Amino acid sequence: MFKIPHIAPKRLPGVLRRMPKAELHIHIEGSLEPELIFRLAERNQVKLPYASVEALRAAYQFSDLQSFLDLYYAGASVLLHEQDFFDLAWAYLEKAAADNVVHAEIFFDPQTHTARGVPFETVIKGLHHACQRAHQEFGLSAKLILCFLRHLSEEDAFATLEAALPFRHHFIGVGLDSSELGHPPAKFERVFARCRELGLHVVAHAGEEGPPEYIRDALDLLQAERIDHGVQAVRDPALMQRLAEQRVPLTVCPLSNIKLRVFPTLAQHNLKSLLDAGLCVTVNSDDPAYFGGYVNDNYVELFAALDLDARQAYQLAFNSFEASFADVATKRAWEHGLKIFFEGLREHD
Ligand code: ADE
Ligand code: ZN
Repeated sequence: MFKIPHIAPKRLPGVLRRMPKAELHIHIEGSLEPELIFRLAERNQVKLPYASVEALRAAYQFSDLQSFLDLYYAGASVLLHEQDFFDLAWAYLEKAAADNVVHAEIFFDPQTHTARGVPFETVIKGLHHACQRAHQEFGLSAKLILCFLRHLSEEDAFATLEAALPFRHHFIGVGLDSSELGHPPAKFERVFARCRELGLHVVAHAGEEGPPEYIRDALDLLQAERIDHGVQAVRDPALMQRLAEQRVPLTVCPLSNIKLRVFPTLAQHNLKSLLDAGLCVTVNSDDPAYFGGYVNDNYVELFAALDLDARQAYQLAFNSFEASFADVATKRAWEHGLKIFFEGLREHD
């Protein structure tokens, strides 16, 4: 590796915020801020069970993944029209551009909307137009990944895939999210096989709350190219070795893990152990409107809590490009830009 200058701790937050990076684990419905929920509720005449933005935000106290999901699905009920999905994605993309995100792979949960009678077409068109505009205005490449809700049936996932196929050119892959415990990857083996046949990239949430076996099964049964979260892998040394040897990326979401009580505090987060074990770890925001921060906040708070340095900043940003689904030439260009950024930092500025 080229020589990365030593950066004083007080300068590190600025470096983390300015460095170019990719975000690979962001649920667009999880970027729906309370202010936008209220604005859309008024626009669409949807009645909310909260009196104010402050009252809604005050309800964001979670004991585990399920307690969050209950609120997250309720929040999405204000999204009805193509313009709503555009506004949602645009709000995220403006923040991402300000965070120096140059590439985002964005999850969306179509079943949350189609179950309420919103057509798949409405969802994907609104999101896609926002992605197109972000590329034009900010040069930010934004791609969509369709997530199947794992608490629903295989049959429902197949029906969702069927509805999505006319828009195949608007998304690059599929993922698996929602309630992990009790819904192992095996449930979706056949639908993922079909997605791979269609040439889609495949990723899966695994080892967020669930055991290391779910990570193994995501790799063996679903042939997941990346694992979303994956922090429970540390409980299984053989799995850790496999993840390191095969450079299987983990899209880790530090603030999410604290809010959902996967770790008691950020200082007890295992991201440093994962990095030290040679895994391709990345930093992401998951559901930033609910977890207290966008991707830069995740970097800054994590680095302060774990006392990480500029070399680790470079490594994490590099990993975010390596783990992306961009083509090789584009990845090399981003990695080159990252190197120039770090070479331009002076030790004593
Ligand atoms: N959907 C949105 N955020 C999620 C998370 N952290 N885990 C599983 N499903 C999700
Ligand atoms: Zn997630």
